[in-house]
Amino acid sequence: MSQAEIARIHIDTRRVISPISPLLFSGFAEHMGRCIYEGIYDPSSPHADENGLRRDVLAALRELNFRSMRYPGGNFLSGYHWEDGIGPKAQRPHRRDLAWQSIEINQFGTDEFLHFCREIGTEPMLGVNMGTGSIQDAANLVEYCNAPSGSQYADLRATNGNPEPYGVKYWCLGNEMDGPWQIGHLNAIDYGKKAREAAKMMRWHDDTISLVLCGSSGPAMPSYPEWDRVALELCWEAVDYHSMHYYATNIEDDSRSFLALSAHLEEFVDALAGTLRYVKAKTRSKRDVYLSWDEWNVWYKARELADMRGGWTEAPHLIEEVYNLEDALVVAQWLSVFLRKADVLKIACLAQIVNVIAPLLTRRDALLKQSIYYPLLHFSRLAKGDSLDVLVESPQYETAQFGDMPLLDASSGYDAETGSNAIFLVNRSLSDELPLEIDWQGRAPQGIIAAHQLAGSDPKAHNSWEAPNTVMTRPIPVPQVVDGAAQLSLPPLSFTALEVAL
Ligand code: AHR
Repeated sequence: MSQAEIARIHIDTRRVISPISPLLFSGFAEHMGRCIYEGIYDPSSPHADENGLRRDVLAALRELNFRSMRYPGGNFLSGYHWEDGIGPKAQRPHRRDLAWQSIEINQFGTDEFLHFCREIGTEPMLGVNMGTGSIQDAANLVEYCNAPSGSQYADLRATNGNPEPYGVKYWCLGNEMDGPWQIGHLNAIDYGKKAREAAKMMRWHDDTISLVLCGSSGPAMPSYPEWDRVALELCWEAVDYHSMHYYATNIEDDSRSFLALSAHLEEFVDALAGTLRYVKAKTRSKRDVYLSWDEWNVWYKARELADMRGGWTEAPHLIEEVYNLEDALVVAQWLSVFLRKADVLKIACLAQIVNVIAPLLTRRDALLKQSIYYPLLHFSRLAKGDSLDVLVESPQYETAQFGDMPLLDASSGYDAETGSNAIFLVNRSLSDELPLEIDWQGRAPQGIIAAHQLAGSDPKAHNSWEAPNTVMTRPIPVPQVVDGAAQLSLPPLSFTALEVAL
């Protein structure tokens, strides 16, 4: 290897982007396919606890330590009557869910979800139906969850066994209301007006809540980014976050470009960050609204219409995407994008958590961790404190979609309280090792205390029930720090997480 092919990163704890919001490591659970039923909740499983929750799933979710959980949808939300999902289970209706053409049995609803959140130690993030739902329904749900007893819906909660208010803090004002596929789809003006009025009523019940406005369902939408500008102008003073959604695809089987997708993801954030600044200036506002990337993941292998239609059955197998090595590397880089954009991005919810485009797959009696589980685990554990602006020097490679891109993707966090410095690295090369020098500026670290790596030679390698540990992170020998620098060689197609004591 010639000198020119070495990558270098320079880490300086004084070069802070922003504190890392813990909510960047959040999830999303929808009444879709087998996410809720047979995923989280399955009284017939040998792993079920006394409430029907899968103990093995709870344990894996606790490991991932999702800080918040968005629920109940998704497209499902826009046809959901939350009152169907409360009260005695035997009396809850079975309904046709039009979004996924499935039968919703309503055995898991708001109370069950909020108990599930307590079980895994996560903050609930509830969506209100802005499709078929009214602003009154939205306000009633806030009353049900958060009001002290003494009025109809708060008392109903008590009757259902929960006398104390839940204190749900995060609320989404609908889902993907810009999409013609959405039940009750609206244009930006109609949505903005409805969301603003819902927000007003919801806050009157509880002025401590935080609200998320529906942004564009993706940068490919014809209404993007105008939808965002219009909805934000109408709702700027009423909301705290603006949502964005994106699903990454490699339909063209162009791995070189796919592995460079973070360039495109950053552009998406930048455009919306610009929109936020524009609206703040135009409205002469003193307040800030931040971004909530409340649906994100790789999703393209199970994306035919047939993959999304349940044939009017209960818990059908829908979009059970199998994740491979290159998908995991894209997920790792996406998490690095969150750190690099930590000044404007404050929430991100992986879509979804179990079975449906998820890091976890279940059979009635077993659980499989997919490749994307591992980068999520390491970021969720290590990315704390401040996000650092890493100076990256890297050899480039050519991509069809994004032109020349660096072979190295890097991000870093520093937690001043514990002195822990986390470094996340992806070598995008399909074929070549990448020698790397890490240089700490300003102060030398005490040492690297742990190093984990996910790597392989086949970008399509994936875990299966027969071979569950094909793609996973493994500990690697920690590189030595000499004179404030460390050297290591990153294998092709690899993700590495380093934990450094500074
Ligand atoms: O996560 C699957 C679906 O993708 C969600 O229901 C919807 O919001 C998005 O289109």
